[in-house]
Amino acid sequence: MNVEDRMRAIAIDRFGGVETLTLKTMPIPEIGPEEVLVRLEFAGVGEWDPFEREGGYAQMMGIEPDFPYVLGSEGAGTVAAVGERVSGFAPGDRVYAIGFLNPRGGLYAEYVAIDANLVSPVPGALTTEQAAAVGGVGITALRGLDDTLKIQPGESVMIFGAGGGIGHVAVQLAKRMGARVLAVASGADGVALAERLGADAVVEGRAGDVPAAARAFAPGGLDAALLTAGGEAAETALVALREGGRAAYPTGVQPEPQAPEGVRLDVYNGDPDRDIIDRLNRLIEAGPFDVHVARTFPLEQAADAHRALDGHYLGKLALRIG
Ligand SMILES: NC(=O)c1ccc[n+]([C@@H]2O[C@H](COP(=O)([O-])OP(=O)(O)OC[C@H]3O[C@@H](n4cnc5c(N)ncnc54)[C@H](OP(=O)(O)O)[C@@H]3O)[C@@H](O)[C@H]2O)c1
Repeated sequence: MNVEDRMRAIAIDRFGGVETLTLKTMPIPEIGPEEVLVRLEFAGVGEWDPFEREGGYAQMMGIEPDFPYVLGSEGAGTVAAVGERVSGFAPGDRVYAIGFLNPRGGLYAEYVAIDANLVSPVPGALTTEQAAAVGGVGITALRGLDDTLKIQPGESVMIFGAGGGIGHVAVQLAKRMGARVLAVASGADGVALAERLGADAVVEGRAGDVPAAARAFAPGGLDAALLTAGGEAAETALVALREGGRAAYPTGVQPEPQAPEGVRLDVYNGDPDRDIIDRLNRLIEAGPFDVHVARTFPLEQAADAHRALDGHYLGKLALRIG
C-alpha cells in the first residue's frame, strides 16, 4: 500500500474518554458497488458522538466493532469515486453524507465509503461546513416534526432547546411547514438566534416563564412540542400543551420527559434514508436557511471538540479536515 492509499483519521483503539481520540494514518476504505467514496472537508461533531466513543451504541445494539474504530456520523466534501452500480454522482460533486454507525467507518476522516442513498448534493446555499453539520440534526428535526408530530400548517408548535443543534434547524423547518413557532432557547444568545431564525415568539427556557409565554402565544394551549432537552423545565413546558396535544423527543434526551394527562408523547429516532434526505433538501432549498456552526476545530483537535460539547454553544460544532 503506498501513501496515496492512506488517510488521516481520528480513531480509537478502545471505547472510553476523550483521551482515546487519536490521530492515525489508516487505509482509505475501498468502495462497494453501491457506495460512494467521499473526500471529506468537514465533519459534524454530534452531541451523541461521546456516547459512540464510550461504546454506548455498540452495547445498545450488540455490535462488536473492529478497532481502530473511526468515529463520526456526518460530513461533507467532494465525491472521490463511485461504485459500479451507483448513478447520479460523479467525481468532484460537492456532497454531504449521513452515516450514523457507518459499517465502513466513521466520518472523522479524510475519506469515507458510504451507501450512495446516504449521500446527497449540498442543498441550497449551504457552505460545505454547514452541510457537514446539518445531516444528523436536520434528519432528526424533520423525523420529529413531519413523521412523528405530523405538523400541519397553522398549528402552534413549541421547539424546546431552540438554540441547540436539532432545535435551531427545527425552528426553520417548522416555519417552512407553515407552523406558528414558539421557541424556548437557552441563554440570551440562544434567544437572539431563535429570533433571527424566524420564530414567532421566543422565551428563555432556564430562567424565563415558559408557561406564561405559551399561554400568551396559544391561549387555548399549544398543538405540539418538539423537545430536544429534558428535565424539570421541559416537564413544566409540556403542561402548556392543549388537551389532545402531541409531543415528541428523540432517543437520547435525558432525563426522559413524561407526558402530562391528555398529551400524547412519542419517542423516535432520526433514521436517515433517501426519502427523508430529499425532503430535508427541499425544505432547505425553499428559502434562506442557516446552519449555525458555533466553532470549528482542526481534525487533530477532536478531543477539544468533544470537551466543548459539555459547554454552552449555539447550533453545532464541526471539524475541519485537511
Ligand atoms: N435518537 C436520535 O436519532 C437522535 C439524533 C440526534 C440527537 N439526539 C439527541 O437529541 C438531543 C438533542 O440533540 P442536539 O444535537 O440538539 O443537542 P444540543 O445541541 O445540546 O441541544 C440541546 C439544547 O437544549 C438546550 N436546553 C437545555 N435546557 C434548556 C432549557 N431549560 N431551556 C431552553 N433550552 C434548554 C441546550 O442549551 P445549553 O447549551 O445551555 O445546554 C441546547 O441548546 C440529545 O440528547 C441527542 O443525543 C438523538
